[in-house]
Amino acid sequence: MSSSRRLVLSRSAALIGAASTGLLLPRLALAQGNKVRVGLMLPYTGAYAPLGVAIENGLRMAIDEGGGKLGGREIEWYKVDDESDPPKAVENASKLVQRDKVDVIIGTVHSGVQMGIQKVARESGVLSLIPNAGVLAATGALCAPNVFRTSFTNSQPTLALGAPMMKAGHKKAVWITWKYAAGDEAFAGFKESYTKAGGTIIKELTLPFPNVEFQALLTEIGTLKPDAVACFFAGPAAAKFMKDYAAAGLKGKIPLYGSGFLTEGVLEAAGPAADGVITTLHYADSLNTPRNNEFRLAYAKTFKSQPDVYAMQGYDTGQLLVQGAKAVKGDLNAKPALYKALESAVIDSPRGKWTMSKQHNPVQDIYLRVVENKDNKVLGVAVKALADPGTGCKMV
Ligand code: BEZ
Repeated sequence: MSSSRRLVLSRSAALIGAASTGLLLPRLALAQGNKVRVGLMLPYTGAYAPLGVAIENGLRMAIDEGGGKLGGREIEWYKVDDESDPPKAVENASKLVQRDKVDVIIGTVHSGVQMGIQKVARESGVLSLIPNAGVLAATGALCAPNVFRTSFTNSQPTLALGAPMMKAGHKKAVWITWKYAAGDEAFAGFKESYTKAGGTIIKELTLPFPNVEFQALLTEIGTLKPDAVACFFAGPAAAKFMKDYAAAGLKGKIPLYGSGFLTEGVLEAAGPAADGVITTLHYADSLNTPRNNEFRLAYAKTFKSQPDVYAMQGYDTGQLLVQGAKAVKGDLNAKPALYKALESAVIDSPRGKWTMSKQHNPVQDIYLRVVENKDNKVLGVAVKALADPGTGCKMV
């Protein structure tokens, strides 16, 4: 039985008990007043399942570190597996908002699914915290006062990728990705930065999400002979892509670059195929700061696995929620005060301190990294304090 179904059943049992004592309304009001209802809409199955688990782990860790409560109130959790399936997104988000009456919806990973959450968040006004999905519209043309992102926009990492590729002398590149918002928008960032630096994109190759049949496209890359390849892939498929790239004989001949999700959470699985891959991202495992070291140690101790960018983003979502709830003493309905607190929060993150842009997206450093021995080694800061322009955002 799913945990959200279990919760619904136990609530029904409690209601029957209350009704039999004639105390239904006061008890219900009390129950709703006592606990903060936190809804998680994340992928627990499908192509992005490990990403959803890492986000939840990081989130719970930050809330536990904050005392396990939100503004002094206990938490009741509700969970929905969104399967990274956009057509089911509105229905899934509506379940959390209408059936479970959550005070906050935390999700998700996949940009297409996020668009469904965004619709429900805008219509219902429920607080929405985005712990990964980078779709531009969420903090752009469809931005909303109740929607805050703790991760990135899809073009942020790749806006930092073009210059280092040109600096390395790669003048002609092929781009390859999944054909959906995350891939398209990562491409837009790459195109802007690479062409501005003087590079030429000779071909844009795509395949549908979550297809992992890369072979034909890798053969085409071999024929095109670019100076370098740049890409967006994420999750276990990213490991397969790097292994297939090596198996196709391209590794060592045509350098591989990417939006940094390519090498997040998959370095064990990818093995030596990932060595030398260069990426840009707002995090790196090897950031040698006291804050990151402390986070990594605590996460590894609790979950017996190494954190990645997704765990870090979940952690920062928890930090933001703890700060916001504290500012309104747990009353998440005190919306103007809550939004003000979230807008002005400074998050002391393992990635480095960051703040919210006016459009509610992190203003953050983007690191240049290279894979060495199953580690994303930092080469430097590629772009300092990068803010997404939030084009088209009108907060009303
Ligand atoms: C996205 O769909 O927005 C996304 C998924 C995985 C990693 C990064 C972005």
